[in-house]
Amino acid sequence: MLTNRGAARARSGHPWIYRSDIADAAGDAGDIVRVTDRGGRFLGHAFYNPKSEITLRIATREDEEIDEAWFRNRIERARAYRESLHIDAGAYRLLHSEADGIPGLVADRYGDYFVLQVGSASVERRLSCVVSTLEDLFSPTGILLRGDLAARKREGLATKVEALSGEVPDSVVVHEGPVRYRAELRGGQKTGGFLDQRENHLAAARYVERYSGARVLDVFSYTGGFALHAARVAETVEAVDASGLALRAARENAELNGLSNIAFTRANAFDVLRERSDAGGRYDAVILDPPAFAKAKRELSGARRAYKEINLRAMKLLAPGGALVTCSCSYHFSRELMEDTLRSAAADAGRTVRVREWRGQALDHPEILTIPETRYLKCAVLECT
Ligand SMILES: C[S@@+](CC[C@H](N)C(=O)[O-])C[C@H]1O[C@@H](n2cnc3c(N)ncnc32)[C@H](O)[C@@H]1O
Repeated sequence: MLTNRGAARARSGHPWIYRSDIADAAGDAGDIVRVTDRGGRFLGHAFYNPKSEITLRIATREDEEIDEAWFRNRIERARAYRESLHIDAGAYRLLHSEADGIPGLVADRYGDYFVLQVGSASVERRLSCVVSTLEDLFSPTGILLRGDLAARKREGLATKVEALSGEVPDSVVVHEGPVRYRAELRGGQKTGGFLDQRENHLAAARYVERYSGARVLDVFSYTGGFALHAARVAETVEAVDASGLALRAARENAELNGLSNIAFTRANAFDVLRERSDAGGRYDAVILDPPAFAKAKRELSGARRAYKEINLRAMKLLAPGGALVTCSCSYHFSRELMEDTLRSAAADAGRTVRVREWRGQALDHPEILTIPETRYLKCAVLECT
């Protein structure tokens, strides 16, 4: 039973109910419970975990049983949506947790394999049903559980990485439009790739293509998501990342695509941006795709300073008319805050900055209007005159 505040939240269409908004509850972690308001009116069925601050995750607002058929129906709906997107890539997100109606379950497809991330005890308990449905609908060669999310600790779930079905290699080569890359399924960041940036990788290359003999700086490059696409249409690309493993993979990806115009720099991005701007470097395009500087609200002021610094430096590095593709994957750093930070960076850099477009995450990572947290990735394409 929910408090009035909890009931209002449930009615607003948000599936997360915090511990403090529950008036009365009973059960064990992983149970599926019936949710009502104080008057006993039905609000939905929810995944229950008393160990988690988000104690209830409403999975359905219908009075229906959450069984194997329910999971199958959700997965079929997710598949139909992805089919409608006509994704030209071997890797895409099939299930985006709450945004696909199964709270706490992410499923990414990499060619013949699936990689799952599970952040809910209720899903973990029903994993065999998810696995058999995926097997039945997609006949994958293997399904891997990447149970190494920090969120699992908060749910009281053990950390583990294990094959749930078939054999899963450490890495697999997939394509993204015209580019091929090796995704590290077991050891890479996220499930192996930043699939949410897929459409932005392609868009950035379209901007780079407009400059003849383009010089591009891709900062926070990981395994080359932006750099590989840009290198196909640029004269030179420098990819910068702090991770040696990521850069080794990026180098192999460049070879895989026959690209020899990418230089790889293993360094702290803040140092590289400062050094390049002190040295009067000039680029036609700079790409910034940092990790989430604000993982929680309390980190916002430090994050704002960090975002401002990298964007200010990048703006100074651009040749007249150059493009800045700048991203933030931090939900807490809102679009408004990002815009304000960029405005302040532009003023300090003394550049006039034209907004070409604001982009978001790839469409296979859907946003649900009533769940603001599902809109997290922002990508601004700016032109500095
Ligand atoms: C969001 S990911 C980049 C994804 C990549 N642009 C893509 O599209 O595939 C952020 C990257 O920043 C790197 N990183 C984090 N802190 C860094 C720092 N201070 N300097 C350089 N790289 C850093 C991480 O190793 C990670 O590869």
